[in-house]
Amino acid sequence: MLINRIFSGNDAVYGLTEKAVNDAVQQHGADKAVGFPHTAYCLPCYYAVTGVKIKTLGELQAALGVVKSLMTREHALDDALMSGVATALCAEFIEALKYLDGAEPYQEPCYGHLADSIIRELGVPLVTGDIPGVAVILGSAPTAQEGVDLIKSYQAQGILVTLVGGIIDQAQELGLKMGYNLRIVPLGKDVTSVIHVVSVALRAALIFGNVTPGDAASLLTYTKDRVPAFVNAFKPVDDVVLAAGAGAIKLGFPVISNEDENIVEVPGALIARPNVADFNKVSLEARGIKIKITKVDIPVAFASAFEGEIIRRKDMRVEFDGSRVDCVELVQTKEMNEVEDHKITVVGPEVDSFEPGSKHSLAYVVEVAGKKMQPDFEPVIERKFHNYINCIEGVYHTGQRDMFRIRISNDAFAAGFRAKHFGEVLYTQVKNEFEAVVDKCQVTVYTDPDECTRMRHEVAIPTFDKRDARLETLTDESVDVYYSCILCQAFSPSHVCVVTPERLGLCGAVSWLDAKATNELDPNGPCQIITKERPIDVNLGSYEDVDEAVKKYSQGALEHVTLYSIMQDPMTSCGCFECICGIEPFSNGVVIANREYAGMTPLGMTFSEMASMTGGGVQTPGFMGHGKHFISSKKFMKAEGGIERIVWMPKELKETVAERLNKTAKELYGIDNFTDMIGDETVATDPEVLVAFLTEHNHPALSMDPMM
Ligand code: SF4
Ligand code: NI
Ligand code: NI
Repeated sequence: MLINRIFSGNDAVYGLTEKAVNDAVQQHGADKAVGFPHTAYCLPCYYAVTGVKIKTLGELQAALGVVKSLMTREHALDDALMSGVATALCAEFIEALKYLDGAEPYQEPCYGHLADSIIRELGVPLVTGDIPGVAVILGSAPTAQEGVDLIKSYQAQGILVTLVGGIIDQAQELGLKMGYNLRIVPLGKDVTSVIHVVSVALRAALIFGNVTPGDAASLLTYTKDRVPAFVNAFKPVDDVVLAAGAGAIKLGFPVISNEDENIVEVPGALIARPNVADFNKVSLEARGIKIKITKVDIPVAFASAFEGEIIRRKDMRVEFDGSRVDCVELVQTKEMNEVEDHKITVVGPEVDSFEPGSKHSLAYVVEVAGKKMQPDFEPVIERKFHNYINCIEGVYHTGQRDMFRIRISNDAFAAGFRAKHFGEVLYTQVKNEFEAVVDKCQVTVYTDPDECTRMRHEVAIPTFDKRDARLETLTDESVDVYYSCILCQAFSPSHVCVVTPERLGLCGAVSWLDAKATNELDPNGPCQIITKERPIDVNLGSYEDVDEAVKKYSQGALEHVTLYSIMQDPMTSCGCFECICGIEPFSNGVVIANREYAGMTPLGMTFSEMASMTGGGVQTPGFMGHGKHFISSKKFMKAEGGIERIVWMPKELKETVAERLNKTAKELYGIDNFTDMIGDETVATDPEVLVAFLTEHNHPALSMDPMM
């Protein structure tokens, strides 16, 4: 019964697809280009499953035959599930046709196809458990309220929620705020738009997992073992939805539904529950997702899903703006007897007495004590404040140190949120995350402007200066050990980052101090000490100790890794890198592109395309993923001559790194304003124009030895 329904749903979708593809060929011709924007894996699902890239309507038409071959009709569960996969591929074809001629078929609030860069961005939050899972909600809930409650229950757990069909209208009807930054992503109203989340799961396997396109068995193992997704499908579940659900089950994603007719449960895979209120618990259990619960005693919600929430000026009750008045955030190490645990003090007026819409000073000082606490951990803890404060619903934080800005929304204020609650949040989170080093913690929140000025200028700035001076002296030569980081192995099984003072992890989120703190907090965790006692070649940054460590932590997949070369045994990439650099043969230089940059580079490739050249824990000489901060490092491609090789960067990235990069260029080579010599998209996206620009500006790379 169930199997026949899947076959019939699959047949229906296949019929529609065949007609749509044939019509399109007739209308536009077989040579017409087809594909999705901002992906290097064109028709990602089909490519992942078969290894073939579809670029024209003619190829799409030919691919129908391959899809048909998956649609076997033996009366067995696996045939039914493969028909589910065939249904998914059909959905991808139908969706691809919507994008012909550069059309933008999806309008607010729907997203449709998601770019490769979004998947790369998801890497770190997924491995850290910050995003513990991905929910796919499909159809219309029995009532809008039940649907929205379900969405919010996942959002509060940090789960990324994607929506397909009637649930989107229901969410809008109740005024639910949606968007990628709130972890609620409406995909589209047609059932075929569900393919856009499947596409994310399959590309994750290619990007992070080093799965060979076409190796369907490894692909399915990857999604089953490593992509924590599940489906909630509301009744009526018709044959088409059932066929799509079969595809999800084949990928290892359980389907939970309130359908009660004509459905047979498949243990652990297809689960019927009459009550939508039970979906959350049942889904997490079925997918084996564990939620870290943080109970913070504040009058609004606290969840990682609110991290990206933006508070607009018109919605804000008060603002604290470090660029206008004195603001500061600071961690200080104290003696045990100087700290009273969980003491929270507010010095100055509460926000009730502030004019609505006004700007004020704010300082919060977190004093910590612990036997294992070290001043080196202060900046590591402090840097998390941005994330902690942003997780408060209705509160928004940007910047850091004495240059932050915080807004409290009208809604949060109305719910009772006050300055003292910053103390509560900071206390709880610091104790939670740093319990191995912080035994006691107290927080003082200053709103008195004179006190803020005093804290900023007399206490914090001297501390920051001291810390910066310490960071300056932290070089690869000055320390005795480096650290490994294998956090990304959850998605990229053989990837290892070697983190040194002058080379942070490629995700940009793990500095040497972070790795050191992580090692201290969790000695058996992702960051392990790597000694550096047996150098092989100091210029390359190769060491016997480092080789041994990467071999061990990659389970033998890697034998040699250098720290400073992009050509010889370069460090591997997992996929979540902030930037990618690749050699540009005409100028002897390298081009760098950052994840946010969607345009073309002089390599004739976009960021996504460059990024697809490497990843999955594999070494690819000539291409290397890295953090933004690494660009101004004296160790950047040191073996090939260093930062002098950089010939092109997107303008925005260039501006972000300019100050530090220019300083390094001055120090290393005596060059002034080096960034003026570097091309960007306003100068050239074509290698010949770029070389002309470099020649005109006398760029040093032109006279260096060729790299290959
Ligand atoms: Fe992943 Fe490397 Fe960042 Fe660790 S340092 S989280 S392994 S990218
Ligand atoms: Ni001042
Ligand atoms: Ni990663």
